[in-house]
Amino acid sequence: MERTLVMIKPDGVERNLIGKIINIFEEKGLKVVAIKKLRLTKEQAKAFYIVHKDRPFYESLTDYISSGSVVAIVFEGENAIKKVREIMGATDPKDAEEGTIRKLFGLNKEKNTVHGSDSPESAKKEINFFFSESELIAAE
Ligand code: CDP
Ligand code: MG
Repeated sequence: MERTLVMIKPDGVERNLIGKIINIFEEKGLKVVAIKKLRLTKEQAKAFYIVHKDRPFYESLTDYISSGSVVAIVFEGENAIKKVREIMGATDPKDAEEGTIRKLFGLNKEKNTVHGSDSPESAKKEINFFFSESELIAAE
């Protein structure tokens, strides 16, 4: 069964949306494998988003991601990576489909409430960024 990493961003945590967001994924059949709330340092946020290091939004994005708590969740399910991306919606909430998390809750292109891995390689990297092997094994 495929696994993917979702991160509820500070705008979602601050507005008390953790439960609503997890509920949307659960109702689509995804299972929580592991979960934690934490606050990333600026350095950790920069490491998490390292693929975007040369993009103009990198500084602002990593300031924002380190500005408050996030919730990291490993979800499991059939085609979990693609499914999660569909449930989240487009990066800019203005372009996101009706009923998607970003359409429902996103504030703007940066503060768009959720992150989801975009490929098997990034899912593996991002799961290992937040969770140790033993935390994942314990959940099986
Ligand atoms: O998150 P997603 O994969 O949909 O988008 P991305 O292109 O990988 O960008 C990562 C994150 O950077 C987005 O979710 C936004 O929070 C932020 N971003 C931004 O602030 N301004 C942009 N023009 C593009 C992305
Ligand atoms: Mg991305």
